[in-house]
Amino acid sequence: MKILGIETSCDETSAAVVEDGVRILSNIISSQVDVHRPYGGVVPELASRNHLQLIDSVITDALHVSRCTLHDIDAVAATYGPGLASSLLIGLNTGKGIAFAAGKPFIAINHMEAHLYSPVMNAPDALPMISLIVSGGHTILVHVTGIGQYRILGQTVDDAAGEAFDKVAKLLKLGYPGGPEIDRLAKAGNARAIDFPRSMLDDPSYNFSFSGLKTAVLYWLRKHGVVAPVPGARDAAPAAGTAATATRVEDVCASFQEAAVDVLVGKMLRAAEEYRVRTVSASGGVSINSRFREKLAGECATRGLRLLLAPATLCTDNAAMIAALAFHKSASEFSIDVAPSIGLGVPA
Ligand code: KG4
Ligand code: ZN
Repeated sequence: MKILGIETSCDETSAAVVEDGVRILSNIISSQVDVHRPYGGVVPELASRNHLQLIDSVITDALHVSRCTLHDIDAVAATYGPGLASSLLIGLNTGKGIAFAAGKPFIAINHMEAHLYSPVMNAPDALPMISLIVSGGHTILVHVTGIGQYRILGQTVDDAAGEAFDKVAKLLKLGYPGGPEIDRLAKAGNARAIDFPRSMLDDPSYNFSFSGLKTAVLYWLRKHGVVAPVPGARDAAPAAGTAATATRVEDVCASFQEAAVDVLVGKMLRAAEEYRVRTVSASGGVSINSRFREKLAGECATRGLRLLLAPATLCTDNAAMIAALAFHKSASEFSIDVAPSIGLGVPA
């Protein structure tokens, strides 16, 4: 069964053809990152306008690369939420229109569930598991017992982890999106240089908080400054400290990243122990982070846990995860509307 998937929930315009929920025949992703970079974040109006301009050619490319015509497609799937309403509308209505015109079933897909499914795609025997969805908009820890069977154990009470990476990168004037830049600079930094707070790590809940960590970085920078200029930074570095007090920007990145990763990994492992699962997985843009992957892989190996991580192209927003998950879902009504704030399940 071949499904054409469409994803436009934020600033990536993507279309893919996936066979039987596992074989990715094409996965075209057109990123708008250059459009939004001058604004330091996604501008919804620009995002929807760009989706509208790109969607036809992205779908045409996805069909072409997969060597399929609409005739070969068994169903059309598109993200209906959560995300930016004006962006979701473009992909959802395009998907519904194509399905209706071609006489195919239409399947509406939850973006968060698709992220969660991406590392499981090739390991359907891995359930039950503890899964972390960690992106620019969400930080959700889930106990997964089956596809569609989710118990949310905890989520962020303020900023998402990716949002914290992006905001700290902004404080350091590293450009947008900040996560990959922090990851890159942290490799040359000392993660023990600054003891940033591990917010809520010792809290008995599985909730997260990243706003305090971001503020701790802000106060550190106000007090100490960082050594400037930073090679590779797009702007001038922030107020430079004196030679005696300034910290290397690489050390700030590494120390911030270590604090964020400690909390993410710490809560995943505690949940795996409490819920007695043998598998853990992570998905979403932040799960690409190299220190996160390294630390999680090391801890899982020590504990004999199986770790599932998707390749980087399936971690950030993409339509392959939408088309893949759709294989497990039944058709939706054509009257289905966008659901910008929809969650994943009922909190525990
Ligand atoms: O999943 P995604 O593409 O979009 C959302 O659904 O939010 O995630 C984007 C987020 C951004 O905050 C970006 O800075 C972060 O993922 N990100 C990273 C890395 N690559 C992307 N954060 C840390 N380290 C990375 N290597
Ligand atoms: Zn996403």
